[in-house]
Amino acid sequence: MSHRPWEDGADFAIGLAPIDEARWLEGGEADPALRKDPLQAEHGDLVWGETETSRRGQREAAALLGVTSFGDLPPLYAAARTVADDLVLVEKTAGHWRVSAISLSAPTFFTAREVLGKSLADIHGPVNGFNDRFLARLVRIFDGLRPGLILQRRNWSVVNSDQPFTPFSAPVRARIGEIAPGDAGRALFTRVERQTVRRLPETGGVLFTIRVWLTPFQALTESPGQLAAFAQAWRSAAPSFVAYKGFHLYAELVEAFLRAHGESHSVNGA
Ligand code: HEM
Repeated sequence: MSHRPWEDGADFAIGLAPIDEARWLEGGEADPALRKDPLQAEHGDLVWGETETSRRGQREAAALLGVTSFGDLPPLYAAARTVADDLVLVEKTAGHWRVSAISLSAPTFFTAREVLGKSLADIHGPVNGFNDRFLARLVRIFDGLRPGLILQRRNWSVVNSDQPFTPFSAPVRARIGEIAPGDAGRALFTRVERQTVRRLPETGGVLFTIRVWLTPFQALTESPGQLAAFAQAWRSAAPSFVAYKGFHLYAELVEAFLRAHGESHSVNGA
């Protein structure tokens, strides 16, 4: 499926909407374990973490994905090897929804070790204005999620890397200066995340899934209207969104790309 969430705007949003179970996880990766196992072997707590009390919830999450035998593996990891998506178990302990187990192969600038055991408030602290604008609503959604209901959201960013596994922003951003404006179509990527949440009815937790798509900017020029829609979102992005996503670091390259493809800049939207 083609995901273009900038067409819905360029500001932070909860944006969770119900989907049918048939559309839960999109698949399309023949053997995710081929990508995930080497990361698991090499990157330890950047890509994996579990709390001591999470195994029951992990087993329920795995069963929801049809995985019921785990060998020596933690159940959530055994399940994560079978799907393209990353899997995050979120459970309520001492009054807060916290990450209790996580398998993370495609992080957008975060690590398993920094979110394990953390609450939704702790995790989203770095997102400008998040806790004031969204936290209470998000907690209500986690508290009230009906079994069987699946909610989906998407977010997007611009990055100069075609790698799904990017735990840290600094090494990626350090290379922005190497990009010639004429190469922006190949060197810049839209990075789209599709996330879902779903209740685990037995243990009461929530399974949060994350899937990432990277598409070179060049692809924006392939169908009519797409580039215009992107240009509109890029140029009208909310200042806090721009600052958080580091869009200012890409401003010259993106403008050069848009102009080279006929999207001349207009400040008044005319
Ligand atoms: C479905 C519920 C959730 C919603 C609506 C939500 C929303 C958001 C939003 C609006 C942002 C800012 C970036 C963006 O997406 O545009 C964000 C960032 C982030 N979210 Fe969530 N989130 C949810 C659940 C989670 C969970 C369960 C985790 C646990 C891994 C998580 C981890 C993060 C991280 C690590 C960031 C980046 C924070 C940073 O910059 O350090 N989110 N989230």
